[in-house]
Amino acid sequence: MSTALFMNGVRRRIAFKHDATLIRRWMSVRPEEGVVSISRKKVTIQHLQHLRKIGQPITMLTAYDFPTGRACESHHIDITLVGDSLAQVCLGYDSTTRLSLDEMLHHTRAVARGSKAPLLVVDMPFGSYSPSTEDAVRNAVRLVREGGAEGVKIEGGLEVVDVVRRLTSVGIPVMAHVGLLPQRHTILSGYKVQGRDAQSALSVLQSALALEDAGAFAIVLEAIPQALGTYITRRLRYAPTIGIGAGSQTNGQVLVWDDMMGTWHGHKAKFVRRFGDVKGEVDKGVKGYMQAVRDRSFPAPAESYDITPDEWNKFLSLVEGGVERTDA
Ligand code: KIV
Repeated sequence: MSTALFMNGVRRRIAFKHDATLIRRWMSVRPEEGVVSISRKKVTIQHLQHLRKIGQPITMLTAYDFPTGRACESHHIDITLVGDSLAQVCLGYDSTTRLSLDEMLHHTRAVARGSKAPLLVVDMPFGSYSPSTEDAVRNAVRLVREGGAEGVKIEGGLEVVDVVRRLTSVGIPVMAHVGLLPQRHTILSGYKVQGRDAQSALSVLQSALALEDAGAFAIVLEAIPQALGTYITRRLRYAPTIGIGAGSQTNGQVLVWDDMMGTWHGHKAKFVRRFGDVKGEVDKGVKGYMQAVRDRSFPAPAESYDITPDEWNKFLSLVEGGVERTDA
């Protein structure tokens, strides 16, 4: 980067150092520390099983980028889930089925930079664990190797048992996901509560038992009656259940970050509780900023930089002869 000035009638080129130090100083916002270091003991699968055993509820929360990953780290969440809800809440798609593996990888890497101690589980996007188990292995290995995932989550029942067994056998921990399967919302004719009749409840139970037998280290139960959530939790031998709309007696709970934080005030599923009001804060912030820019109360003198009168006068005499524009 350089600019040209006329000094005493002579054209001089002044070069600015284009180095990382300079760029860092120009960033208006940056994290307090450059690198997030692990703030507590690493959460392992064994630790999750211990929590299940002692009856301490497991906390799982979705994260999609560095700041949300970092919040999971600093507030001691047990499992950070890079959910494929990423498709809707961050990328503006109308369904999770639109999300690609590369998009998932990009966001997983950002979350992994912020979330160190929680177990990092990543949703396998729609189509990435089919048609063959070998596709599933190849894609799960990419999430682990390139993204930093420590486990993957797969939606489905008996039809994904082989995939779960195969991934587990090559050393990739799998979290299963039964009940409401958002990746199948078209075939299910919408996002509907599952297991509400005896036959469907039996099918959710059978899936959960088979997935545990295939090696799933934990099982998400989404949108099922609370009695069924409790029953499945008691029937499983070792895999903790993580509920989302499955009642309070599962071994843990998960919510989508944006639902939990109230990023918007639109439709709210019955199982969502808003623990924050981000939309309210965003509205307040954006309106306040616009108003302050328009009435020139922002920036105030205290938010602006000064130059000494001496340097300012020198500057004025430097530019007196004219300043030439440069292409550089
Ligand atoms: O994609 C997601 O966020 C999920 C959770 C809601 C379990 O699968």
